[in-house]
Amino acid sequence: MELAAGGYVVEGSDISSGMVAVARNSARDRGLDVRFHECSFQTADTIPGSFDVVLAMFAALGYLTHFADFELTLRNVAQKMAPGGIFIFDVWNGAAVLPQYSPHKVRHEADDKRKVERVSRTTLDEIAQQAVVKFEFRVEYADGTVKHFSENHHVRFYFPQEMVDLLTALGFEVLLRCPFMQPEKAVSKDDWNMTYVVRKMSDRPTAAHQSQ
Ligand SMILES: C[S@@+](CC[C@H](N)C(=O)[O-])C[C@H]1O[C@@H](n2cnc3c(N)ncnc32)[C@H](O)[C@@H]1O
Repeated sequence: MELAAGGYVVEGSDISSGMVAVARNSARDRGLDVRFHECSFQTADTIPGSFDVVLAMFAALGYLTHFADFELTLRNVAQKMAPGGIFIFDVWNGAAVLPQYSPHKVRHEADDKRKVERVSRTTLDEIAQQAVVKFEFRVEYADGTVKHFSENHHVRFYFPQEMVDLLTALGFEVLLRCPFMQPEKAVSKDDWNMTYVVRKMSDRPTAAHQSQ
């Protein structure tokens, strides 16, 4: 939405029809012209056209817990990238997840419309590099109505160098690796979310290009 508001031509996609509906309503409310697709990463090659930037934020790639799906996704992304285009995504950093994760956490947020309590219970599989987070929400609205719902999130985490090696093996080069939303900093073992900015190796300028 921020990029569309800034004048960029933007399209959005999610596997979840509910999330796409939320995004569509948000774009409409803000008067933004954004085209949406209800598409998985694994079928993203069916989205027409190509893009200068492909962006997958908030650890969305972490939801691909099987390597075959990750590999297919990167192949689809490469296919959708315009020449010289970049792919920006973030994933959980295992070096931070292992020491920092809490098996039980309670968080409260409130605004003038509602109070939200979120209880999370997390189990880690350190060997498979995966976390299962079970969220239970209690939302109390200003008129006194209370709603309960729960969500299960199954997320793969990666180690910083492991991701560089995977990207390289799949034909990408890393232009930048940084903590989420902090491009001026280097990733450390304390940063839970790490962002990668990558491009296809085949798009790397050659010596011939540079001398032109
Ligand atoms: C943590 S949310 C981030 C949401 C969104 N990127 C945003 O900025 O609000 C992760 C998102 O990944 C989506 N997702 C999970 N598995 C997916 C898949 N295989 N293909 C496409 N989207 C997927 C979920 O539906 C969810 O909307």
